[in-house]
Amino acid sequence: MLRIEHIGIAVRDLAAGNELFRKLLGSEHYKTESVESEHVTTSFFQIGESKIELLVATDPESPIAKFIEKRGEGIHHIAFEVHDIRAEIARLEAEGFIPLNREPKRGADNKLVAFLHPKSSNGVLVELCQSY
Ligand code: CO
Repeated sequence: MLRIEHIGIAVRDLAAGNELFRKLLGSEHYKTESVESEHVTTSFFQIGESKIELLVATDPESPIAKFIEKRGEGIHHIAFEVHDIRAEIARLEAEGFIPLNREPKRGADNKLVAFLHPKSSNGVLVELCQSY
């Protein structure tokens, strides 16, 4: 693991979230991107070597819609940058973590991503990401 690449935060309203985090961080988001496969639109803020990723559902079937329904707005996942995502998935699975996808998929911000089930990591949804 190289660093915390970003922290994903589920919000109900992206414009309101962008405004709140603009005030909090003192900088504008630099990118908005939809990930159709995940039914989300994302917005990114750079903060030092890491980022904040705001996530809003694009339809009721979105995992973000379900998350907010269950737990309200808030921290949704922590993303760690890795050198070799396939090797990390194999290493973590051998350590007892449960990958939600063994084959990395395309996420936002030019990343290959894979997730670990929160029940295997103290209730925290973990994202692994590798730039491409
Ligand atoms: Co993410």
